[in-house]
Amino acid sequence: ELNGFPHYMLKEIYEQPETLANAMRGRLDDSDSTAHFGGLNLTSQQLRQIDRVIMTACGTSYHAGMVGEYLFEELARIPVEVEYASELRYRNPPIDRSTVMFAITQSGETADTLAALRESKRMGHTTLAICNTVGSSIAREADGGVYLHAGPEIGVASTKAFTSQSCVLTMLALYLGRTRHLSSVQGQAIIDNLRQLPEKVRQTLGCHERVKGIAAKYAHVRNVLYLGRQYLYPAALEGALKLKEISYIHAEGYPAAEMKHGPIALVDADTPSVFLVPRGSVFDKVMSNMQEIKARGGPVIAVCSPDDEEVASIADDIIPIPDVPEYLQPIIAAIPLQLLAYEIALLRGCDVDKPRNLAKSVTVE
Ligand code: F6R
Repeated sequence: ELNGFPHYMLKEIYEQPETLANAMRGRLDDSDSTAHFGGLNLTSQQLRQIDRVIMTACGTSYHAGMVGEYLFEELARIPVEVEYASELRYRNPPIDRSTVMFAITQSGETADTLAALRESKRMGHTTLAICNTVGSSIAREADGGVYLHAGPEIGVASTKAFTSQSCVLTMLALYLGRTRHLSSVQGQAIIDNLRQLPEKVRQTLGCHERVKGIAAKYAHVRNVLYLGRQYLYPAALEGALKLKEISYIHAEGYPAAEMKHGPIALVDADTPSVFLVPRGSVFDKVMSNMQEIKARGGPVIAVCSPDDEEVASIADDIIPIPDVPEYLQPIIAAIPLQLLAYEIALLRGCDVDKPRNLAKSVTVE
């Protein structure tokens, strides 16, 4: 079952080129430059009427929802709010008829997400699931939805589900964008970039040896910061969650520019910062945030574009990742962060597949 891998987590990390291909199979449509989904169960008129989206989820799936917020706003121009299911279920937010609720969940059994979905349905809202587990409670109770087709995820730390959720959300943003302002040329460019994604992820996995070396250098630390902006802010949160849940090192993810509003006080020689800084629209801004950390003596590990001399001249360690459009960067950047958490946890003697205090499906409230 482990296919020669020492742990499920590593096996699932390495499956990602394939699981992403599975998420896209049969869903990309070159003739209309859009995506298609079999199970949304909405008419094209209902789809066009969506003028607000609420995404609800927990943990890693919540971080994918945050990626979805950036995607839907940029590619489909639809306003999005992302809510922790455990909070949403006890609130009573004003929601109108043209709002669609997405519940994002790997297991389809998370108690808080299920409760939020039921509450939303009770109020009469269209409620869709983005789910991995076929026939799970959330998949059955939602009005419709999209399966990830990522196969069973057994490692407690979610890895391939996050990248597949982000991929499905990209396709949904493409689809909704194409019912609105996105031209066929823009739509086709997104399809072409999505098609290259499995190969780009395969290339990214080539960073594993380098990540091992970096893990050995930092496995003893007690605190790590993860910093990114825009699409890479949720990726920073996800990187921090991976590290804390399997290595028990305290980690925090932050939007890189928020550091100066307090958390930068944490920075010292024993507190490394993982910067997500591939080339893109906010590159210069993130670089100046990185300088601020260096100036305070904090070690910097930079996940960056290939051959980026500017980053290499400042960072203590670099992890080059292939170039992709900004809206796909969270998927690519997740790979080295998953590997880093895995390698550090191993060095600390932690049980990576079954971290203490955690269960795969959180069926308690
Ligand atoms: C983190 C992790 C959890 C889950 C969360 C939601 O690695 O696995 O944070 O993401 O419990 O689970 P699902 O997606 O099954 O609803």
